[in-house]
Amino acid sequence: MEPADWPASKALRLEALQDSPTAYCETYADAVGLPDERWQALAARGAVGGDSFQVLAFVDSRPVASCVGYRERDDAGLAAVYVTPSWRGRGLLDRLVREVAGWARAEGAPRLRLLVHESNAPAQRAYERLGFVVTGHREPYPLDPSTDEVEMALTL
Ligand SMILES: CC(C)(COP(=O)(O)OP(=O)(O)OC[C@H]1O[C@@H](n2cnc3c(N)ncnc32)[C@H](O)[C@@H]1OP(=O)(O)O)[C@@H](O)C(=O)NCCC(=O)NCCS
Repeated sequence: MEPADWPASKALRLEALQDSPTAYCETYADAVGLPDERWQALAARGAVGGDSFQVLAFVDSRPVASCVGYRERDDAGLAAVYVTPSWRGRGLLDRLVREVAGWARAEGAPRLRLLVHESNAPAQRAYERLGFVVTGHREPYPLDPSTDEVEMALTL
């Protein structure tokens, strides 16, 4: 994506936080109050030339899906994965992950890792279909530490 895509990225992120509150480590209430400078800075980091890699998919100028790849120690991480409900089950996750996996390979990362909430079975199944496997590592979900997030990884 380009830095100028920040309004679309912001709109989709706010939609995601309302649609799936336990899928992310941030609440809608916190995010909706952020100044536009924060959204612009985030978009600049994910855009070409930034230190992470954000993919933003549009249909007829409307943002419908997004995710972010980032370097995490020796590996790459995948986060902020979201497909708008009317576009789920149509292969967009596969396309997003392929883009990030290509970026991560070019960065020299051996694995693409993610954390998914233990209750999010549809997402876990979707990642398994794409070749991710459960690593065995779990960690408390920051917004509700009585529950866990499960780590999954794709060998690149
Ligand atoms: C997880 C997610 C990214 C998968 O994207 P996708 O493009 O739908 O991926 P898939 O095509 O592989 O389908 C995934 C599942 O969604 C189901 N699905 C299809 N259409 C759907 C819809 N309109 N609403 C809800 N689920 C739907 C699919 O049937 C499949 O579930 P199944 O394993 O029970 O068959 C997407 O469902 C999503 O954005 N969910 C909300 C946010 C989220 O959980 N993000 C992941 C955080 S780790």
